[in-house]
Amino acid sequence: MAVALIILGAGMGTRMNSDMPKVLHQIGSAPLLVHAMQSGAALDPAKTIVVAGHGAEAVSKAAKAYDETAEIALQTEQLGTAHAVAQAKHALAEFDGDAIVLYGDTPFIRPETLAAMMAARLTHDVVVLGFEAADPARYGRLVMQDDQLDRIVEFKDATEEERAVTLCNSGVVAANARTLFTLIDAVSNDNAAGEYYLTDIVGIARAKGLSATVVRCDEAETLGVDSRAGLARAESLFQMQARAAAQANGVTLTAPETVFFAYDTVIGRDSVIEPNVVFGPGVTVESGATIRAFSHLEGCHVARGAVVGPYARLRPGAELAEDVKVGNFVEIKNAQIDEGAKVNHLTYIGDAEIGARSNIGAGTITCNYDGVFKHKTTIGADAFIGSNTMLVAPVTVGDQAMTGSGSVITRNVPDGDLALARARQDNKPGFAIRLFEKLKARKARGE
Ligand code: UD1
Repeated sequence: MAVALIILGAGMGTRMNSDMPKVLHQIGSAPLLVHAMQSGAALDPAKTIVVAGHGAEAVSKAAKAYDETAEIALQTEQLGTAHAVAQAKHALAEFDGDAIVLYGDTPFIRPETLAAMMAARLTHDVVVLGFEAADPARYGRLVMQDDQLDRIVEFKDATEEERAVTLCNSGVVAANARTLFTLIDAVSNDNAAGEYYLTDIVGIARAKGLSATVVRCDEAETLGVDSRAGLARAESLFQMQARAAAQANGVTLTAPETVFFAYDTVIGRDSVIEPNVVFGPGVTVESGATIRAFSHLEGCHVARGAVVGPYARLRPGAELAEDVKVGNFVEIKNAQIDEGAKVNHLTYIGDAEIGARSNIGAGTITCNYDGVFKHKTTIGADAFIGSNTMLVAPVTVGDQAMTGSGSVITRNVPDGDLALARARQDNKPGFAIRLFEKLKARKARGE
């Protein structure tokens, strides 16, 4: 059965007190919207429609950055959840299959839960995701009649008896797409909020003799974000889940509560992540690598057996081959470091290639930027770059070549050569003692 995702994200999110649409606020380095899309992606959807309103352009950009096939349906006025879903009708006019409605501000729905909803669709026309709420507060209440879901009542419209129900609506709904839009056509805004409630489709379906049921999930899965405090709670839950998943995959986290993951971090088995490490988006760490304390990685790849940090920064485009060592206070950006090479201390490597087994001395800097353009530094295999070498790009240092400490390298160094590019040392015999005496005498005169 083909599945289409309809993801609602038109609301302003007033309580976020932000210029940015709510669904673009991030947890795990990705917009809330992307987390919702990622949950839905587990159903291998044939179509994904994001309903956008506030900040639609930015929402569209974020949706397409994650999935370029995602389509945007505009909801210029937010007249309620049924009205929001109705905006996807045009995009699904030719679609034959099931539609599942997700919320762009609800990032934790598990793929297994959506699969359970699709399974329930085999026997019921409308499937709603519900949960037992510890504090039902203002959620819509799911009113059951034997094993059928009879109706959903919004808090504002509920009687005392209905408010006593603790089985609540998550907002996630699945139905055949055509059925869904037919039911939505019958929804009115004759209610306490004056909104077109998506929840009304259940009562309408039952009145037409269709069946409806509830699939239950943990309340934690339905956690939505509507304030900065809620965003922080969601971040914390995301990180707890990401740490547990890494551990289950065979990764050692020395102090799990201090390691922060992104939505797409991939870490191989038997890697060790020391305390206080932050992963930004786009990081892959292969098996058996060690990321030492206080390192920050984003958009990079670390191969087997490599050791990074402590206090290292890998920026986008850093590619570390097997057994590479990157030490403290080293920053690497857009650079390929080949097998077994070492960049151990106080160094900046940007826009560069470093050959296998080369050693980059402490304090080396690739001067890659001339104020306007970026230039490349290429270092061959088995090279030795002396401490405090400035490599003024574009420049190439050949295989087995060396640079003397403190050199400013502005010309290419051929294979096997030693480049010395610094002032020659001049020792003045006894000068130091004479200078000291002179200075001390001046101090004694009170100068
Ligand atoms: C909705 C449900 C409620 C459920 C709760 C779970 C309805 C009528 N009520 O209430 O039963 O318990 O979610 O959180 O469906 N949105 C749009 N356009 C609109 C209105 C909303 O895109 O015109 C989006 C919002 O951006 C948000 C989502 O739909 O992502 C939910 O809307 P919201 O107004 O927060 O619904 P609730 O009042 O929470």
